[in-house]
Amino acid sequence: MAFLFSVAFLLSVCSAAICDLITDGVHMECRERYFMIAVDLSFTGKEPRFEAVDRTGVYAITEQYAAKCGYTVSALSLLGHVELRASYFSCHTDNKDDMFSFNFNLIATHKGKEASYALNKTCTLSLQWSHREVTCEMNYMEVSVRSDVTCPFGTNGHNRNASKAVRSATTSDWQVTFQRPEEQMPSMNVAQARKRGYTFDSRDGRLLFRTPYGQPDSLSTEVENVPVEAVYATVFSRQNWVVLMVDLLAACSMYEGYFDDAGYMMWKTPEALYPSVGGTQIRIGLNGDPMEQLIAEKKGYIVEKHKGTVHIGIPYNAEGGHRKSFVIGSLYEFYVFDLSVEQISLDRDYVETMLQFRRTLVTPLLPCTIFTHNQTVLKEQMFTIYLGDVPEDVVLVSIQLNEQDFTLPFANTSTYNIAEVLYPNGTHGYTLKVPFHDLVVKQKFFIEDAVLQFMLDINYTLAVLPGNESYYHSASIVALLTDVSPPAFDAVCSESGIRFKLDHQPFDYLWEFTIGLDVLTSDLANRRGYILSNDSQSLRLDVPLATHGYKYQDVTLKGFSGTFEILVRVRETSEVQTSTVKTCLFNPPEFIMCSTDGMMTVVANLPLVVSSGGRTLRMSLMDNSCGPKDMNGTRALFSFPVNSCGFIFELGKDYVTYQNEIFYNKNYQNMVSNDVTERVIVQCTYPLSSLRQLFTMYRFVSDTVGVGKIIRTVQPTAGLQHPSRKPTAGLQSTPAIARHTQPIAFVPGVRPSTRYFRVSRVHNLAGG
Ligand SMILES: *[C@@H]1O[C@H](CO)[C@@H](O)[C@H](O)[C@H]1NC(C)=O
Ligand SMILES: *[C@@H]1O[C@H](CO)[C@@H](O)[C@H](O)[C@H]1NC(C)=O
Ligand SMILES: *[C@@H]1O[C@H](CO)[C@@H](O)[C@H](O)[C@H]1NC(C)=O
Ligand SMILES: *[C@@H]1O[C@H](CO)[C@@H](O)[C@H](O)[C@H]1NC(C)=O
Ligand SMILES: *[C@@H]1O[C@H](CO)[C@@H](O)[C@H](O)[C@H]1NC(C)=O
Ligand SMILES: *[C@@H]1O[C@H](CO)[C@@H](O)[C@H](O)[C@H]1NC(C)=O
Ligand SMILES: *[C@@H]1O[C@H](CO)[C@@H](O)[C@H](O)[C@H]1NC(C)=O
Ligand SMILES: *[C@@H]1O[C@H](CO)[C@@H](O)[C@H](O)[C@H]1NC(C)=O
Ligand SMILES: *[C@@H]1O[C@H](CO)[C@@H](O)[C@H](O)[C@H]1NC(C)=O
Repeated sequence: MAFLFSVAFLLSVCSAAICDLITDGVHMECRERYFMIAVDLSFTGKEPRFEAVDRTGVYAITEQYAAKCGYTVSALSLLGHVELRASYFSCHTDNKDDMFSFNFNLIATHKGKEASYALNKTCTLSLQWSHREVTCEMNYMEVSVRSDVTCPFGTNGHNRNASKAVRSATTSDWQVTFQRPEEQMPSMNVAQARKRGYTFDSRDGRLLFRTPYGQPDSLSTEVENVPVEAVYATVFSRQNWVVLMVDLLAACSMYEGYFDDAGYMMWKTPEALYPSVGGTQIRIGLNGDPMEQLIAEKKGYIVEKHKGTVHIGIPYNAEGGHRKSFVIGSLYEFYVFDLSVEQISLDRDYVETMLQFRRTLVTPLLPCTIFTHNQTVLKEQMFTIYLGDVPEDVVLVSIQLNEQDFTLPFANTSTYNIAEVLYPNGTHGYTLKVPFHDLVVKQKFFIEDAVLQFMLDINYTLAVLPGNESYYHSASIVALLTDVSPPAFDAVCSESGIRFKLDHQPFDYLWEFTIGLDVLTSDLANRRGYILSNDSQSLRLDVPLATHGYKYQDVTLKGFSGTFEILVRVRETSEVQTSTVKTCLFNPPEFIMCSTDGMMTVVANLPLVVSSGGRTLRMSLMDNSCGPKDMNGTRALFSFPVNSCGFIFELGKDYVTYQNEIFYNKNYQNMVSNDVTERVIVQCTYPLSSLRQLFTMYRFVSDTVGVGKIIRTVQPTAGLQHPSRKPTAGLQSTPAIARHTQPIAFVPGVRPSTRYFRVSRVHNLAGG
């Protein structure tokens, strides 16, 4: 077998295995009036050929030969199959009684080699012949009449015994004339007529006449506005004084049909191509399977008789119809219908005529209306786009999102999603989901209008099956989110600072948070002593009192207000859009602030200063003309320029410290007394680098606030020993404050208590 296949140019006979493969793609069927072989092109490669076989030999079925001999090869390669129809009266059919045997060779290309496959089938006549049978095939007209047709001799020119005479006579005795209106055609013998492409024969008790369309003797006319082709042939024989004569009329509707707006493929034929009394009975259907009129109508077909014409409408989606998508620049579709129509009529002599049409009707290319529908629901924060009305032979193979290519299906890990939707009518659709926040989505933020715009350009690549003809469908979807408001923090006061909290929103990434000009990051928080915690739900920021960024106001004995502001900026432009400002009232037992303009503000708690008998104790700074701005109980408020009130200063390598001291005495008369048990020293230290004019007495300007201290020196036994300076906390002992890593603890009433504040500006100081 391998040998046979390997010999080039040699037509091989198929092996069992290959035969099986091929015959899988071959379907043979006996129909009422013809035998049919359908060949699936996917099994046989390019268009196969056929040969008719009988005892006398093998005959290639060419186009011409087919029309002459009753074969029809209808190749619909776009639909993927080829069909051969052979009339029961075709040239190489053996018939015995009502049995018809067909033998064909199918010549197909398999694996690049041509091979011949023998096909045979015997069909039994399932429906008895009518007196007259007319077939309007695609490529020929065929008429057969029963040979014992009875008709009155002389009245209409028919010879009562014509058929028998024809049957017994040798054909060469017979003459043929073709008739055309107002034309006298010369007669010819049957052999000459055959040379002209006609077939005259006598088979199975019937006289047969077959003619291809478009013969010189054929007549193209219109009947009831329907184009009709007809051939009028009369065969006659003169035997002695008797003339035998048979009229053989072949007439067919040549109407090509059209596709109407309502989705019907329309076709028509004159109702009475052949003499008819009392109308005709009609059966219609697709693919050689005609149905009774009522059943067809129930299935949506139109059958209407109107002004002598039968109108037939096939719904576009009729079962058995073929549909194909097609790309020529744009996407089109067309429908193909293999229409069979049977018309049965009786003339006034009760001669029954069965007329059969076989027509392949093709719609024009119809534009396909694939559409995209924006089903985006803003709340879901994703694009939902539906691609609909995709024909069943078209599939989505890839997709471009904003010019980025993606093959389908998407990877598991992808945030995109595409789902196919199937419909009973065969169309399908695809639902694409792409989250707004995905990197592939283009965004634009219109700050003034608080509108966030998302843009997605989609380019779908669809392929028409089989093969891979590509069609692109594109869509641009824009979604606008309005009222995109910047995030707002909740802020609450605590004893030791302010706590900010922000619940994450989907669009937080549009903004950044800053403290002044500094962007809030965990690094910044670490450096400044803020406590930042950030999880998927919310962001919290604890800002301890005395850390950088506070503004202090309204300093009185009852405390002061501290204000902290977080700015919300548009990330792209750094433009401040909003801010959260929180002001809290703080009341630590004592504190000191050193402002950039050189004011030292101190609230000192002096528990030893007991108000005796309701008298207020006398109290002052080094310069005893500088008294407290306010006093209540054990607390006193001083506010004075650092470089006044008898200050002393110490100049270090990098800093300068201004110092003063609060003096007080239980004894009203005796200002500086021996029974002082405690000294309260107050200090402000500024970095030298921040001071602009250190030695100007009139104006003090610092770029930064100073670090303040309240230092107490305590004598072990009250009133007995000379005061000695034993700082409970020295300059060097406060590195934590200098580095801003720890909030200050306010512990009321506990000595020694030292409070430090950095103050940029102190407003509305009580008493001045
Ligand atoms: C017809 O084909 C079958 C196989 O399909 C085969 O067995 C049979 O011999 C063939 N008959 C003729 C007459 O060729
Ligand atoms: C017609 O055929 C019948 C027999 O079938 C015969 O009796 C009759 O004579 C024939 N008529 C003619 C005109 O040949
Ligand atoms: C995709 O997900 C399915 C189940 O969800 C899993 O079985 C499969 O292995 C995944 N494939 C890849 C490539 O991750
Ligand atoms: C198919 O069915 C779907 C859903 O019912 C419909 O939207 C679509 O228009 C139908 N398409 C055709 C060609 O009938
Ligand atoms: C879609 O993609 C195809 C192939 O890349 C390209 O030829 C076509 O121009 C694209 N269509 C649009 C509207 O971008
Ligand atoms: C699809 O097209 C490519 C070239 O565009 C071709 O190489 C390939 O064979 C085609 N595939 C099919 C199944 O037609
Ligand atoms: C798509 O739908 C969304 C949500 O309904 C709407 O905001 C948007 O304007 C639509 N886009 C287009 C291009 O129709
Ligand atoms: C907080 O975490 C979110 C992610 O959960 C991140 O996008 C954001 O940038 C973080 N914010 C800060 C200030 O670190
Ligand atoms: C002095 O302090 C006491 C308690 O701390 C308070 O009740 C009182 O109102 C204060 N007096 C003034 C004048 O502030």
